[in-house]
Amino acid sequence: MAKQSISIPVIRRLPRYYRFLRELEQEDVQRISSKELARRMGLSASQIRQDFNCFGGFGQQGYGYRVQELRKVIGEILGVDEQTGMILIGAGNLGKAVAAHVDFKKCGCVLIGIFDDNPLLQGTMTANLPIMPMETLTSFCRQRRPQAAVLCIPKHAAQQLADKLIELGINGFWNFSHYDLRITNPEVTVENVHLGDSLMTLSYCMHRKKEET
Ligand code: NAI
Repeated sequence: MAKQSISIPVIRRLPRYYRFLRELEQEDVQRISSKELARRMGLSASQIRQDFNCFGGFGQQGYGYRVQELRKVIGEILGVDEQTGMILIGAGNLGKAVAAHVDFKKCGCVLIGIFDDNPLLQGTMTANLPIMPMETLTSFCRQRRPQAAVLCIPKHAAQQLADKLIELGINGFWNFSHYDLRITNPEVTVENVHLGDSLMTLSYCMHRKKEET
């Protein structure tokens, strides 16, 4: 099944399905109906059926979904079994927290290098990796060929650095820098992360509930 035939809104829901299915597998649940999965996930059964139909269904009328099989297929689509080499730039408060607390392996990535331009940080360890000076970035990328980068640098530095990283073979950015990168290369993917957006959604929902009561 071609990955590109799945729409982005469905792709955005897949990590959550993957997480729930993995939990079910850990609970030794072998199969589950769309109704039961919907109840656990707070979704509608028709939404789940519609989403899973995008990549072949995997359900049988009156039988439900095979949990392990479905988890594997979704994992394959998401590429969680791949080992995409990643570097992280900007080992400040956020960068260190991301490096230390995000389970990269679980998401199909391996953090192989951390860089920062602050000389005071150089050589110190984060997530079992030494923080390296920016001067070594080019030679590191040529040797180790990371494919993706996490950007945890201030916004004013983001574009210039991203352009350089693309030249060095980076084709995916997990961008925390609060700056919308201008990328013209169609082979490069950017995932912008704004924790504030999630907080604003919470704020909106709370206010709406208050207005309704
Ligand atoms: P910080 O000041 O603690 O860390 C930034 C690090 O980047 C510093 O260690 C600095 O030496 C390094 N740096 C700066 N320019 C660099 C360059 N050109 N090359 C390499 N390293 C460079 O800041 P913090 O709190 O870690 O935040 C980092 C960025 O993340 C900021 O832009 C902040 O606004 C953003 N942020 C984004 C969030 C989100 O939800 N997307 C949440 C929190 C922060």
